[in-house]
Amino acid sequence: MENLQDLERALNPYPFYEQMRESAPVFRDEQTGLWHIFRYDDVERVLSEHATFSSRQRQDEQSETGRLFAASLVNTDPPRHRQLRSLVSQAFTPRAVDALAPRIEAITNDLLDRIAPAGTADLVEALAYPLPVIVIAELMGIPAEDRDRFKKWSDNVIKAAGPDEVLAEDDPGEEASRGEMVEYFLALIERRRQDPGHDLVSALLGAEIDGQQLTVPELVGFCALLLVAGNETTTNLIGNALLSFAGNPGTLERLRAEPGLLPQAIEEVLRYRSPVQAMYRLAAADAELDGTAIPAGDSLVAWIGAANHDPRHFERPEEFDVDRSPNRHLAFGHGVHFCLGSPLARLEARIALQAVLTRLPGIAVVPGAALERVDSTIVFGPKQVPVFWQA
Ligand code: HEM
Repeated sequence: MENLQDLERALNPYPFYEQMRESAPVFRDEQTGLWHIFRYDDVERVLSEHATFSSRQRQDEQSETGRLFAASLVNTDPPRHRQLRSLVSQAFTPRAVDALAPRIEAITNDLLDRIAPAGTADLVEALAYPLPVIVIAELMGIPAEDRDRFKKWSDNVIKAAGPDEVLAEDDPGEEASRGEMVEYFLALIERRRQDPGHDLVSALLGAEIDGQQLTVPELVGFCALLLVAGNETTTNLIGNALLSFAGNPGTLERLRAEPGLLPQAIEEVLRYRSPVQAMYRLAAADAELDGTAIPAGDSLVAWIGAANHDPRHFERPEEFDVDRSPNRHLAFGHGVHFCLGSPLARLEARIALQAVLTRLPGIAVVPGAALERVDSTIVFGPKQVPVFWQA
């Protein structure tokens, strides 16, 4: 599996996925003992059959990050998962999220006002990064000015979350970030206990399941999950959309002429350049995938990025096609863990990209710009998107 190492910073993992889908779709890496799953049907099964493929982490495979998220819903199986999820799902219904639209538009316009006269910018730094952080910080009732700290923490967390890093020695940068994050959220939880507000953290503190409140580790894990999940992923969706639109001739013009096409175009970005390329599971029972036996106790990596390019499910999968419909991609997962933040991510991406299309006419990626991938094996997106436009 040396190829996976080479891939780490690769902007284009798709030829490798194709090779694995066709020659070794259920592959055990002898070095790490991890199973890697590449075909759509298998990835969908691994993500959704929670009785067989658990979201718990094996104790000995828990990185510092794993321990931080251990008590949060993404790492919990039913029936506890259902209880945890019901506590927070109210805040994330499409209706509740739609109410945030005016505020998201205002933040977007404010961010674009700062760069509009310049004619050039890195749109990750100027828009794709700050927008989701400001939105999630406001939802959680924490100062958006702390966002440089959030950025450092979540960068370190996603860097440490790859299939090989999970098994590696804990990284000191990641450990320090985890410690700071836990301290930050413990202090926040204490402040809100004393002085509740109308934010998500206060709501979670007041929430009860069968007369029991969330434990402190569950609260901290959930705050950390929201900060990382609500942050890097949406940033990368917007960055990936800018690259996909600018890289496919005629797309920007077409979206400008037919704004109604934008939500469908965003779904195609989610498929074509999935911001989360892989998720983990633990075999809770003996299982079989594509005729290969997976023993109970083994860990699996379900490659969402490979599934979303599987020709068994998508015609011309290597083509970016804004007209693709239906588009049953797995970018937000599948089954009980289906992304809770998907309505918010879709809304933020739509507002941000619409604003770019209307406010920055003639936008193009700076020719010859050296694009780099964010430092992570599982999160996928560009570090920068340097663009220019006509005033
Ligand atoms: C779960 C992707 C944005 C919160 C997930 C899962 C995926 C995913 C693949 C499934 C995990 C699994 O099966 O183990 C994405 C992508 C996003 C995005 C691609 C942006 C484009 C967000 C946002 C939030 C969020 C904005 C919150 C503000 C969550 C939470 C879960 C989750 C809380 C756990 C749900 C559960 O375990 O029941 N996300 N996400 N995500 N996401 Fe997202």
